Amino acid sequence: MLQTPKTRQPVVNRLVVIGLGLIGSSLALAARNAGLATEVVGISRRSSTLDLAVEMGVIDRPEQSLAAIASELGAGDLVVIGVPTLTVPAILKECFELLSNQVTITDVASVKGSVMVAAEEVYGHLPVQLVPGHPIAGSEKSGVTAAKADLFKDHRVILTPHADSGEAHVQLVEKLWQKVGAVVSCMDIQEHDEVLAATSHLPHFLAYSLVDTLASMRDNREIFRYAAGGFRDFTRIAASDPIMWRDIALANREAILSVLDQIMSNFSEMRSAIDSGDETYLMDVFTRARDARNHFGQSIDPKALQKTMSEKIINYKVTPGGAARGDIRVPGDKSMSHRSIMLGSIAEGMTEVTGFLEGEDSLATLQAFRGMGVIIEGPDQGRVVIHGVGLHGLKAPTKPLYLGNSGTSMRLLSGLLAGQTFDVELTGDESLSGRPMARVADPLAEMGAVIETAPGGRPPMLIKGGNKLKPIDYVLPMASAQVKSCVLLAGLYAEGETSTIEPAPTRDHSERMLRGFGYSVVSDGSKASLSGGGSLTATRIDVPADISSAAFFMVAAAITPGSDITLRHVGVNPTRVGVINILRQMGTSIELSNEKEVGGEPVADIRIRYAELNGIVIPEDQVPLAIDEFPVLFVAAACATGETVLTGAEELRVKESDRIQSMADGLVTLGIDAQSTADGIRIQGGQLGSGTVHSHDDHRIAMAFAIAGLRSQGEIEIIECNNIATSFPGFVDLATAIGLTINVETQES
Ligand code: S3P
Repeated sequence: MLQTPKTRQPVVNRLVVIGLGLIGSSLALAARNAGLATEVVGISRRSSTLDLAVEMGVIDRPEQSLAAIASELGAGDLVVIGVPTLTVPAILKECFELLSNQVTITDVASVKGSVMVAAEEVYGHLPVQLVPGHPIAGSEKSGVTAAKADLFKDHRVILTPHADSGEAHVQLVEKLWQKVGAVVSCMDIQEHDEVLAATSHLPHFLAYSLVDTLASMRDNREIFRYAAGGFRDFTRIAASDPIMWRDIALANREAILSVLDQIMSNFSEMRSAIDSGDETYLMDVFTRARDARNHFGQSIDPKALQKTMSEKIINYKVTPGGAARGDIRVPGDKSMSHRSIMLGSIAEGMTEVTGFLEGEDSLATLQAFRGMGVIIEGPDQGRVVIHGVGLHGLKAPTKPLYLGNSGTSMRLLSGLLAGQTFDVELTGDESLSGRPMARVADPLAEMGAVIETAPGGRPPMLIKGGNKLKPIDYVLPMASAQVKSCVLLAGLYAEGETSTIEPAPTRDHSERMLRGFGYSVVSDGSKASLSGGGSLTATRIDVPADISSAAFFMVAAAITPGSDITLRHVGVNPTRVGVINILRQMGTSIELSNEKEVGGEPVADIRIRYAELNGIVIPEDQVPLAIDEFPVLFVAAACATGETVLTGAEELRVKESDRIQSMADGLVTLGIDAQSTADGIRIQGGQLGSGTVHSHDDHRIAMAFAIAGLRSQGEIEIIECNNIATSFPGFVDLATAIGLTINVETQES
C-alpha cells in the first residue's frame, strides 16, 4: 500500500467519490496526490475495485456504501457522483436519504438535463447543495486501473449550477477542479446538452456505427487488415465503455436525435451527389468542412477567443541591446486583407487572394463571411480563394457574427450589411465592445438603415434587414477610412450616388480595390463617390506586406546604431506613408527601391539604416497617414535628441486602447519624460531604462515596447501581449531573426 501523502493545502474536508471509474478514480488520485482533501474516500460495490484503488494510492479509505460514511459528513465535505449516467438517480436518492444539506454534491455525468430531472424528482425541488459538473477529459480507457493524476490538467470542466445552487457549494466544486489543473467554466444546462450532443455524443455514435458496419461485412478480416491511419484515428473512440454510451444515448435523447437528423440529411444529400456525380456539391461540402476544421483548429473559434477564467496571459521580457539587421518580408496588409474578403464575397465569380494576413482580425472577417454562406478556401500560406455570391447572395447567419478585437471588421461590415434583407448582430471582445460605433451608425441611419447599439453607441450592433437605403453626401466629422469605407459599402446598396468628403486624406484601399473589382468609384480631392446597384467582378489580389507591421522594424533600425534592414514588397500607398515621412524628417535614412504597382496599389522594398534622430514637431497632415504607427514612432521620439510634439491626434484615444495614455504611461515607467495632451503627446528624448509596462491589450503598444528593448538600459517586461496575434502573427520570430531577444512567458490570468 502507498503512503498517505502529507496534506498540503486541503480545499475540501472529506472527498467522497462514489464510483471508481476512470473519471472518479482520476479525480481521487489527483486530489490525494496534491493533498487537496483531509481524507479521500472511495465508494464502490466491488471489493476488488476498492482493493485496487487502495493499492494504487487512489484513495485513503475504501467503503462499499454511502451509508457507511454518511453520518460523518457535514459542511466542507464533497461527494462526487462518478457512476454511469443512468445510475445517477439511484445515487441521488441515497444522497437525499442520508446526507444533510451542508454536504456539497457534484457529479461528472456527460448529460446534465437528466441529472437535474432526477434531482427534482428525488428531492421535490433542486437541492441547494447540488452543483452538476462535467469534466471533458474522458478517454476510451475505463476503470480504476486507467486512473491518471493529470487527466484533468488543461482540460475543460463545465459546471451547470442551477438557480438555487448555493454560492459556497459552487465555489467548493470549482476550486477542487481548478486545483487539479482543469479550466472551469459555467454553462446553461440545455446549452451544455446540445453542444455535447453535437461535439462529443454524435462522434461516438458515428464511430460505433462505422466499426459495427464494417465488422458486419462478410470480408471483415480483410477490411480491417487494410484499414489505415484515418480509420484508426476516426474509430479510436469506438473502444469506449458501452454502458456509459448507452446511458448517454438514452439520457440525452432529444438533443442527440436532433443532431442525428441533421447529419443523416447531410449524408443523404451526399449520397445523392455521389450517385449523380454532382462535383460542385462535393467540392462545396469538402472545402467548407476542411476549412472549418483548419479554422477551428486555429484560434478563431469564438468560444476560444472569448477569454475563459484561466486563459493564459502572454508576457514578453525583452533583453536590452542588439542591432536590427536583415532582409525580411512582414505579413500581409491588414486593411487590404479585410477588404479582399468583403469585396471577394460580394463579387460575381471566384477571387484568388495571395499574401492574405492570417491574423485574428482578418480571420474574424473571413469567418463572418463563412457564417453568411460564402465558401472560402484557405487560408493556406496566405492564399485564399473566395467563391463570390454577388451583391445580393449573402445568407442570414444563424448566430451573431463575432469579430474579436477588430474595429475594421465591425465598421466596414456594418455598412455592407445595412443593405441586406436579413437581420444580423455584430459582437466583439471586451476592447471592441468599448469602441465608438455611432460614427458609423449615424450616417447609416441617415441612409435609412435601422441599427441598434448598446448605450453610448457601443457594440453589439444589431443591424435590421429589409430597409431600402438612400444615397447621401456625407461630410465626415473625423478623418477615418473606416467610416468612409462603411458609407461607400452601404452606397453599393443605395439607389443613386453616395459620396463622402473627408477632412484629411485617409487610406483609400476601399476605393482602389472596388475599382480592381471593376466597380466605378470617382475620387476627386477629398470626395469619393459611387453609384449603387452595379456589380463586382471577381479578380486576383496580391496583398503586399503591411507598412504598419513593417513600421516596427523601421523604427528598430532607426534607433539602433549599426542597423541596416531591408523590408520587401511593402505597400507604400501615399495615404499610408506617414511613418516614412516622419522618420525621414527625424533624420533616418530610408531608401525605396523596386517600386511598382500591384493590383492598383504601390509597392516597394524599403531599406532603413541607422542615423541619429532629432525630435520634431510632427506635421498634423501626417497624422492620418501614420495613424497606426504612432506607438512605435513614440519610441523613436524617446530615442531622439530633443523634443517631439504631436498634436491633432485625438483619434489615437479611441483605438484598441487609448494609445496616447498607454504609451505615455509606459514611457514614463521606462524613465522618459512623456506628457500626454488632449490630442497628442510631448516626448523629451532620453535614455530608456527598464521596467514593467502594460500593453492594455493593444497589439501595437505591445510591439512598440518590444522594439524599445533595443535601446533600453535594462530588461523591459511587457504585460499581456496576446493580441499581437490580431495583426502580426510571427512577430517574435521575425523580431528574433533581425536581432531582438524576446523571452515569451505565460501566466495564468
Ligand atoms: C483602418 C483605418 C484606421 C486604422 C485601422 C484600419 C482601415 O482606422 O486605424 O487600423 O482598414 O480602414 P480609422 O478609420 O478609425 O482611423
